[in-house]
Amino acid sequence: MSPSIQPASPKVVLITGGNSGVGLALARRLLALSIAQGHRQTIILGCRNPLKAQKAISGLLQPHLAHKDLCDVQLVEIDTSSVASVTSAAIAIEKKYSRLDRLFCNAGAMAIAGLNPWGIIQGILTHPVAFFESSEALYQKRGLVTADGLGLTFQTNVFGHYLLVHKLAGLLERTGGARVIWTGSAASQLEFLRTDYQHVLGAKPYESSKYIVDQIAIPMDRRLAQRGVRCLVAEPGNVCSNFLAGLGQAWLEWVILCAFYLCRLCLSIPRFTISSVNACEACVLLGVSEGQLDSNMKYHSRVDRWGAPFVDAVPLVYDKRTGAFLVERMDALVRRFEERRGNE
Ligand SMILES: NC(=O)c1ccc[n+]([C@@H]2O[C@H](COP(=O)([O-])OP(=O)(O)OC[C@H]3O[C@@H](n4cnc5c(N)ncnc54)[C@H](OP(=O)(O)O)[C@@H]3O)[C@@H](O)[C@H]2O)c1
Repeated sequence: MSPSIQPASPKVVLITGGNSGVGLALARRLLALSIAQGHRQTIILGCRNPLKAQKAISGLLQPHLAHKDLCDVQLVEIDTSSVASVTSAAIAIEKKYSRLDRLFCNAGAMAIAGLNPWGIIQGILTHPVAFFESSEALYQKRGLVTADGLGLTFQTNVFGHYLLVHKLAGLLERTGGARVIWTGSAASQLEFLRTDYQHVLGAKPYESSKYIVDQIAIPMDRRLAQRGVRCLVAEPGNVCSNFLAGLGQAWLEWVILCAFYLCRLCLSIPRFTISSVNACEACVLLGVSEGQLDSNMKYHSRVDRWGAPFVDAVPLVYDKRTGAFLVERMDALVRRFEERRGNE
């Protein structure tokens, strides 16, 4: 199934991680769409680094100086790996805005420890294509815990957003027709451990966090639907964004870029979206489409051999018991942090 983009016009949009990569490209495309339709749109970039955010805002507004009345780009400071920061951001948004049409839970990070030479050799020799679709080439840092006592990657990629949605649920409900859109990834059940669901000790905290996104999206959608809010998952494909900057090796980013282009051109593998503008195709669709959207589906950004983007919706691989387990755990965390705040 390949749904097409049919323009609607969300008025107020929040994009976490909106200063870079997929989030920034999404902001750019939403802005261009709303200007083309003559609708005023407010885009709030949810960023942890105000300097980077201001640079992104200037870059977003620059091409549209002639349409100043139609574009409003704002910053809200948010660090999704901090409960205090997420709480302050939610309070600031509730205070300033009377509606929130779209909440893109896009900010995400992988704590890269270094290259895994053995994984690279093995991957290239035994399953070269799947290898470039995975993070087998990399070691991730283990044992990282935030000041809140949670697994860093889990809190950054999942729980920070879960808490944000919880805090903004009233505003989303009052808006009517609002959507929460997660940026998922190619997630694998193999990396998820119930006994260490925050994946503090495991070797693949990033994959585990994205598996959790897939598991909680449907239960969240069922819960939020009672309040008129939808919850959906987009997946950007393989993108050469700042994501690999943690490697600190520019030459390696070039090697990866070349490998991605080779896979796309020679083998026509559609998940190598490569550019952020192509990678945000599914987010754009979920943001603006007035068509039927199904929370049982995962919406993948894809490209043909020549880089023309499209969206492929495939059933979300979801286990009901795991989803219920995770939602229960995260609700308990939300309660724990709210009680702690109440006692302060
Ligand atoms: N790149 C890929 O191949 C790929 C594939 C599948 C899924 N994804 C997902 O796509 C999303 C966007 O990634 P990208 O490729 O666009 O990478 P990116 O260019 O590195 O963008 C990630 C964004 O998330 C922000 N971020 C990271 N940690 C944060 C935190 N604790 N609090 C607030 N913001 C934080 C970053 O802010 P700073 O600029 O301050 O670091 C940046 O704005 C992520 O969820 C990622 O998991 C990416």
